[in-house]
Amino acid sequence: MERGEFRGSGKRRRKCCLILCVAVILIIIIAVVLSLTLRQETSDFKTIFLDRCKKFKENNCENIWEVFQKIYVNRDPCQVPMEAYDPLITAAPFKPSCNKTMFWSKTKDVVHSFTEKRDCFLTMEDTLLGSVLDGLTWCGKEGSNETLTTGCPGWTECENNTVRSFWNRASAEFADTACGNVTVMLNGSIMTPFDSRSIFGSIEVKRFNSKRVRNLNVLLVMQKNAVVNCTTDSLQELQKVLDKGIKYNCKEVPESLIEECSSHPEKPCESCW
Ligand code: APR
Repeated sequence: MERGEFRGSGKRRRKCCLILCVAVILIIIIAVVLSLTLRQETSDFKTIFLDRCKKFKENNCENIWEVFQKIYVNRDPCQVPMEAYDPLITAAPFKPSCNKTMFWSKTKDVVHSFTEKRDCFLTMEDTLLGSVLDGLTWCGKEGSNETLTTGCPGWTECENNTVRSFWNRASAEFADTACGNVTVMLNGSIMTPFDSRSIFGSIEVKRFNSKRVRNLNVLLVMQKNAVVNCTTDSLQELQKVLDKGIKYNCKEVPESLIEECSSHPEKPCESCW
């Protein structure tokens, strides 16, 4: 081999080595950044969980967190059935709330802007678990001990996803604790205020039992663009699936009346609408 050729191949080898080293360093940096980001996601999520939990003067929040994260961590986020949350319900049980339970479907904002100001009703989001997880997204992935808060599968990707299964399980339990007079706010601005595929329609209503629940009061929220009233077919469907011993009643309530009642705490809730 000529001297020049030898020098040329040495140079090429050094160049290859350099490219390889840079690639390895880049991979290490990306892995470290990813793992730090995931750890940060877990720690931010855990902080929100514990802060919200402690507002309930609950001493057991660390234990509730441990039970909670064991349910989905290191698991396929599409393979978490609602029963997986049983231990969480045992760790943070729902307390019975007679005559105050309020359900909702497609009316989350209206209901909560009311319950934030008045305490005559208790919604899922006023319970410990409902409040702690309200509006959050979480899931795990196989081979990792972290909690992910982005990129989690939703309803369109799979039925047994981490978040949906939690709301299904918690809603079933919440409905089981309802007794006496039960209220639901439904949306008068859509054609199907009672949707049999919603959590209210597919889970909660089916758990109402005439031994515990005496009345179901539907408050149909009427905005200016309302498209249905209490006589709509969709609400006839609701009556059909309701346990026969439960008395049904529906009232059309203008949204403005709900807002007015929110801003008059001195007004008894019974006379709001
Ligand atoms: N935070 C985030 N998402 C929620 C929450 C919440 N607090 N509650 C429910 N979800 C999810 C569920 O996956 C649900 O499908 O948002 C969707 C709300 O859809 P809607 O059709 O508006 O209502 P519905 O499916 O009937 O669920 C509301 O579930 O949590 C119970 O007691 C609650 O009666 C209420 C019902």
